[in-house]
Amino acid sequence: MKLIDGKIISEHIKQQVIAQVKDVKEKGVEPCLAVIIVGDDFASRTYVNNKKKTCDYVGIKSLEFALPAETTQEELLALVEKLNGDESVHGILCQLPIPKHIDEKVILNAISPEKDVDAFHPVNAGHIMIGDSLLKPCTPAGIMEMLKYEGVEIEGKNCVVIGRSNIVGKPMAMLLINAGGTVTVCNSKTKNLAEVTRNADILVVAIGKAKFVTADMVKEGAVVIDVGMDRDENGNRCGDVDFDSVKEKASHLTPVPGGVGLMTVAMLMQNTVTAAKMQKIKED
Ligand code: GUN
Repeated sequence: MKLIDGKIISEHIKQQVIAQVKDVKEKGVEPCLAVIIVGDDFASRTYVNNKKKTCDYVGIKSLEFALPAETTQEELLALVEKLNGDESVHGILCQLPIPKHIDEKVILNAISPEKDVDAFHPVNAGHIMIGDSLLKPCTPAGIMEMLKYEGVEIEGKNCVVIGRSNIVGKPMAMLLINAGGTVTVCNSKTKNLAEVTRNADILVVAIGKAKFVTADMVKEGAVVIDVGMDRDENGNRCGDVDFDSVKEKASHLTPVPGGVGLMTVAMLMQNTVTAAKMQKIKED
């Protein structure tokens, strides 16, 4: 089994971003990402800190807007509108989850599609489906980069995605379809799931259940991508794939931690510099 190393591949992406940042800075644009965090969710705080640290590393300016949990929908909308209108800000990201009294959809739909570096806006979701997107959701886009880096062919392959979220499962399926894969999307209610997954040449697991995919669900020689960020019975970090058993069958496998998670942040950096370039061209 070959380990797909998120550290190496995300570093490769970050080096590409560094070169692009240098290039746009020479053209007089300083790429800038605005990150909004509402409330004090511990995991969200960790993710946001990590995003800011990675911005520093690649030379992207980052602005943080940390709002109290009591923030009203109107106040949050007003901030998004202000950032939409600020020409020095190229990317806007609202860290999820946001408090329940705010309608997440209203906020995500308010972010200008060209600054939507998460690519959650319906306009960007539509571009993914058609296959002409510039901003792609970071996690699925990062997985495509991993497959490309490892030389995994997609055309003509059976691809199975477990999970149907708007953030991972659905856009992942679209990117695999656009790359010529034969794609099946499953969920926790799928009948005879193991039978379906055993057919997969490429298996992407984003179901959010610790060690859910076991060796009996995996075809010999399959490429297995684990999007999970879970905790095992001892409280240790693990993924949705039972790594120790699946590693005996898979040809390629991503670890958790050290896999897909690192790619998500790298692709956010790529989206921010892409957004900055798009906005600069529009200006010229
Ligand atoms: N919360 C968990 N994952 C994500 C993500 O990719 N983007 C945002 N904005 N929030 C998240």
